[in-house]
Formats: sequence, structure tokens, C-alpha cells
Amino acid sequence: MIRLFSKLLHKSPALRSFGKNPFSAACPSSTLGRTFGTSAAVESGAKELVKIGFVGAGGVSFGTAEGPWNHSVRLEKQPNVQFTAIIDPNLDLAQKRVDDLSKGAYGHKWKGCDVYKSYQAMLEDVSKEKRPDAMIIGVPPMLHGSLDVPSCAMEVDLAKAGMHLLVEKPISMRPAEEVERLAEVLHEMADERKLVIAVGYMLRYNPAIETAKALLKELGRLPTSIVGRYNCTYNNIYKPQWWNTLESGGCIVEQATHFVDAMRYLSGSELQRDSIRAIAVGPDMELSEMPPPPNAEHTVPYDLRVNRATVAVFRFESGAVGSLNHTLLMHGQNFFTELDIYGDGFHIIVRDPYQKPAVILRRPLSNDYEQVPLDLGRDMYEKQFDAFLHAVRTGDQSNVRCLFHDAARTYETSWWISEAAGSPIPDGSVAEYLK
Ligand SMILES: NC(=O)c1ccc[n+]([C@@H]2O[C@H](COP(=O)([O-])OP(=O)(O)OC[C@H]3O[C@@H](n4cnc5c(N)ncnc54)[C@H](O)[C@@H]3O)[C@@H](O)[C@H]2O)c1
Repeated sequence: MIRLFSKLLHKSPALRSFGKNPFSAACPSSTLGRTFGTSAAVESGAKELVKIGFVGAGGVSFGTAEGPWNHSVRLEKQPNVQFTAIIDPNLDLAQKRVDDLSKGAYGHKWKGCDVYKSYQAMLEDVSKEKRPDAMIIGVPPMLHGSLDVPSCAMEVDLAKAGMHLLVEKPISMRPAEEVERLAEVLHEMADERKLVIAVGYMLRYNPAIETAKALLKELGRLPTSIVGRYNCTYNNIYKPQWWNTLESGGCIVEQATHFVDAMRYLSGSELQRDSIRAIAVGPDMELSEMPPPPNAEHTVPYDLRVNRATVAVFRFESGAVGSLNHTLLMHGQNFFTELDIYGDGFHIIVRDPYQKPAVILRRPLSNDYEQVPLDLGRDMYEKQFDAFLHAVRTGDQSNVRCLFHDAARTYETSWWISEAAGSPIPDGSVAEYLK
């Protein structure tokens, strides 16, 4: 695999630099007196008990040093749920999760939760009473999302067993064409077996994103340009596989994919593959606060190491243009993330959707910026689970904003950008440890 980014630095068309948001200090805090909450606590009645299992006892489901994610603390607050299985080859970690959460305010929901070293072991051993209705899949990307590699086929196997799924992004680490076929198979299985197979592109439930989407509808004007800036902190990432582009997907497929998805969602349009141009700064730029060996990129072959900074430009099928700027350069816990949506006469700024979501709006025929009030009652992860559990209980999937086949488009699009930036892309080969 030959690293291409330095060649592309010379070959790619010159890219204009997108400067800082000029309005960041000057937005008045006036409010419009209304909010655009669209999915706040879906009323399902929640009468039926839902038994939930986790595949993966790691950060996304149980929390990390950086970021607001932690599915278990959101799920345990949901009415009428019981946790019956945690699956992780690290059985000690899985048991620690059960033990810790059993002592908490919702401890009764974790009593009797069993741990298994694999989902196959669970399917074999679980009793009827504890058999999960729904599984939350949060495992390293290269371990799931395959149709052709049996050891990575957990979605198909769990769906065959009749379980609803909420799958974390990236949904795979296999070639996009295979993931497209997987999406078709899962779509058919979901249809036949009345299953919900959703993906955790939770920004679709973010109050700032949903308000921006509602504003676009209200304005009745299409975006003409969307600028995304996703800047990540790196010094708490102690996972060698995360630093390997072909195991995690790298910065665009693993992370900025959230903004690729948000752009698809907000514009209602697909990116045109042949329009994408991208350049990147690669691993030759040293990071001063890199986690110490062997936990970070030190064990990863140079050609497979993730990029430090990527800038991409592209066109949407609607005719609009877009750009995405990702960096892996910040220290500490807080990411810097922002989207600018421009169209005829308007500018919508989606600010800091992870930590303190805000929306700033400049309307047609106006010079002024106003802060749009948001419904911050429930966070994006809580709303994602509101919609998922409502669908599991009732079969009504209309509130689920990202199903697997939709996420497969975001997956493919994210790889297109990554490839354009010179990153290696999956070629279908299977690593020894997955055979
Ligand atoms: N949507 C979000 O906000 C968000 C946030 C963080 C992570 N994620 C995504 O969630 C996924 C998991 O990330 P993480 O931070 O939890 O990773 P992690 O490394 O912290 O945890 C993964 C866990 O999976 C376990 N595991 C390994 N092989 C397994 C197997 N075959 N079966 C079951 N468990 C297995 C590991 O032992 C580990 O405990 C990634 O794809 C990541 O991108 C999403």
C-alpha cells in the first residue's frame, strides 16, 4: 500500500482556505421565542419490557475520557428496560460494567445481566427469559459489518436470531460495495422479520441540526454551500486500532463521517463522487502529546497511519457545493465542531453540536444574526434511543432517522473523501486475525 498524500499535495487543485467564522464573537443572544424540537421524548407508552444487550463493553456504550457518549447511562433512564447481556472478549471489563452499574440509581435494571465472550456464545447459552430483544453494537469497526467474512457478520447473525439492532458508525471496515450488499440483505431481513436496524448517526437528533433542518424547510430555500469543520482532540485516544486507517477508517470514515452524514441529511442530497477533491497532512507531522507507546500509532505501519488534517471540497447532486475540514490536533476533551449553511439570503450556523449546541441565523434581507432558541430538554443520544425503543415496541419506525441502508451511503461517501485525500482504502482482503 503506497501512501499517496504527498503526491496528491502536488496534484490536487489548489484549495482555498476557509478562515475562521467571522461571526463567532458577534452573535447577539436575542431569541425568537420558539423552538424546533421535533422528537422530544417520543410518547410510546413504554408498556412493554425491552431486554437490551450490548456487543462491546467499551467507550461508546459505557463512556470515555473525552466526548459526551455513554449509551448505558442514557438507556438505563428509559422506562421499562432490562439489561440482560454484555458481550466482550474482555470478560473482566464486561463484568466490571455490570458490577459498577448495579450499584447505581438504576441498579435493579442491571441485576442478573450476564456477560459473554462472544455473541455466538450468547446465542448458544442465553435463556429464553434473558434473550435480548435489542442489541447495541459498539465494537471496533473492523470486527463487524461484513457479508462475506463470517467472523465479522454479527449484524446478519443477530438479525437472523430476531434481534433489533442499533449499530455504531463506522458500520464496517469492508469495501463499500460489500457493505451496500449487506445493507440490502439487512433491509430485506428487517422487512420480513419486522426488525429495526438503525445506525448511531446521532447528530440527526441533535437539537441544533434538527433546528437547522426545520429552518431550511421554513425558509423554503435550498443550501447553496455547506462548510463543515470537525476538529478532534487526540491525546486521550489510547487504541492502536484507532490510529490505523484500515482498522478504524481514519479521520474521515471514523469521525468526520458524522459531518458527512449531517451534510447529506441537511441538504437532502448526495455528494457527487467525481467532484471530490481533497488534500491532507499525513503522519509525518509529529503530534507533541501523542499517547505513549504502545497504545497509539507507534505500532501502526507508517503507510496506514491516520492523517492529521484533511480539507475536502465537493459538489452535491442538488448543485450546491460543500467543504469539509477535519483536524486531529486539539488537546484535552472538547472537540471544535461547526457547520455553516449558506443559501440565497441566509446563513445558518450550527455551533458545537457535541457540547453546547447553538444555532445562529441570518435571515433574507437582513444584516443581523440572531440566536435561535433550541429545545435542549433531551440530548441527541436520549432522543436516538427514544426513537429506537419506540420503533422496537410499536413497529413504527417513522421517528428513526438513520436506518442501515441510509448509513451505508454515508459510509461509502466518507470513503470517497478519504480516498481523494490519499488514504488507503479497503481492498477486500481479510486480516489474518479475522480468518
Ligand atoms: N456515535 C458516537 O458518538 C460514538 C462515540 C464513540 C465511539 N463510537 C463508535 O463506536 C464504536 C466502538 O468504539 P468504542 O470507543 O466503544 O471502542 P472501544 O475500543 O472503547 O471498545 C470496544 C470494545 O469492543 C470489545 N470487543 C472487541 N472485539 C469484540 C467482539 N468480537 N465482540 C464484542 N466485543 C468486542 C473490546 O474488547 C472493547 O471493550 C466505534 O466504531 C466508534 O467509532 C461512536
